[in-house]
Amino acid sequence: MLLGLLTQWGLFRYWWVTIKLALTTILIGIILFVLVPGLGARADAAHAARSFTAAERLPLAFAPAVGVALLILMVVLAVFKPSWSSGSACHGRYEHG
Ligand code: HEM
Repeated sequence: MLLGLLTQWGLFRYWWVTIKLALTTILIGIILFVLVPGLGARADAAHAARSFTAAERLPLAFAPAVGVALLILMVVLAVFKPSWSSGSACHGRYEHG
């Protein structure tokens, strides 16, 4: 967020930055609300030597897979910085300070 706020890119001036902000927020949500509670519950089950159902296993494989895909997408967006602007950049990148 600081990179967006403190540079000419802004948070909402270019779609790629706005997309990164949204994806990072989604990622934090997945980690906090899916992965952390899921891992805790599965750790308790493993400790009790209980076997897992497919419905219990799936989110634990799915959440990290989505997370890694989003991280790769974010690095690709950051490196290539696609030039589509969100409208507020149409007068030039440096004009809005
Ligand atoms: C985990 C999440 C993120 C990853 C992995 C990531 C990755 C990167 C990478 C690798 C670069 C360097 C690209 C280059 O210089 O070629 C970069 C630059 C940048 N990122 Fe992110 N980023 C993340 C989250 C964010 C968020 C949430 C924002 C803002 C909302 C953001 C805004 C920017 C901006 C504006 C730059 C360009 C800085 C500049 O060149 O002056 N990033 N990011």
